Amino acid sequence: MDTRKMGFNTRLVHAGIPDDALGSVTTPIYQTSTFAFRNAKQGADRFAGAAPGFIYSRIGNPTVCALEEAVAQLENGFGCTATSSGMGAVSTAYMALLNQGDHMVSTAGVYGPSRVLMDKHMSRFGVACTYLDTSDLDALARAIRPETRIVYVESPSNPSMIVTDLEAAAKLAHDAGALLVVDNTFASPYLQKPLDLGADVVLHSITKYINGHADVVGGVIVAKTEELHKKLRSMVVIMGPCMDPHQASLVSRGLKTLAIRMERAQANAMAIALWLEQHPKVEWASFLGLPSHPQYDLARRQMTGPGAMISFEVKGGVEAGARLMDSVKLAALAVSLGGVETLICHPASMTHASMGKAARLEGGVTDGLVRYAVGIEDVEDLIADLEQALAKA
Ligand SMILES: Cc1ncc(COP(=O)(O)O)c(C=O)c1O
Repeated sequence: MDTRKMGFNTRLVHAGIPDDALGSVTTPIYQTSTFAFRNAKQGADRFAGAAPGFIYSRIGNPTVCALEEAVAQLENGFGCTATSSGMGAVSTAYMALLNQGDHMVSTAGVYGPSRVLMDKHMSRFGVACTYLDTSDLDALARAIRPETRIVYVESPSNPSMIVTDLEAAAKLAHDAGALLVVDNTFASPYLQKPLDLGADVVLHSITKYINGHADVVGGVIVAKTEELHKKLRSMVVIMGPCMDPHQASLVSRGLKTLAIRMERAQANAMAIALWLEQHPKVEWASFLGLPSHPQYDLARRQMTGPGAMISFEVKGGVEAGARLMDSVKLAALAVSLGGVETLICHPASMTHASMGKAARLEGGVTDGLVRYAVGIEDVEDLIADLEQALAKA
């Protein structure tokens, strides 16, 4: 069934599922490392790309390919490659698209390890990077050099919720002969489709909203063109961070409910953000759905909803924030986001600790910032939990 022209929700449920001889309604788990050839010619033809069919599961596996086809359709891309983790997708993008002597421009507030990978490791291979607030388009234009090959944007950024104008960033990148790569983890393809806005590559930690059930670590990288897709896929095949069929099966199951999970979580987040914003013990609250967010209009223009991530600071700074995190009972004190359950964490000492304080502040990650990833529980229970924890903070 060709689902490419069907609606987003139909694609969520049906895209990518292969025709199965036994009529299986969901994609079977092909738990095999290798695929037997009928004869030597068929094997040679498959290796030469002259015959369809699978060879070896690092190169391709039907269960994983079903998920890849679904995500490619959801992001309106040419093709998708699944990876063993979100960092597998980030490292694939860096390794496949950058050469010695190249330069990258990146959102300062990217996920900590995306920055550490660049600064501690890609730098050993002669790649340089300039970090800045990519929402400042004049600064972005100034940072692009003749040797810039990638403009790397995380939007909304983690956890400061800064939004970059993707259409404008794509134009600046393309005018300079560079590619726009977008980490779309925080929005998911339900709320934002960077390829439609001009990006060349979009990647996700599917550990988050796409899988949605906090039981899988994984990533995807989607390319707009066949040429880019081949480049990225061959890097995964050769470097080895491929996805396992069991991982893919769980993600394919979680993916089907992305839209309804996202709708519910962001409705909860809206109510909680409004409540937090007026709470006397809260210094500030930042949520893309609040008119007080400096990029409220831009977010409304390029996203179909504000998502479900709130960052806020408790009056009394780091100590008060720590007391709050020690006092919540319903929200789990854990890193990650995008699952059905609500999580709370302290980025400066957890997800972004490895970046160092200067880099954190550059990305808007203050020491007192608390990240609250809203799930799909009853909002009254979440607010009651925060209320009792704020009383102790
Ligand atoms: C925005 C973003 N990108 C990438 C990653 C890395 O993903 P993973 O933990 O699946 O390797 C994360 C993880 O938190 C993230 O939040």
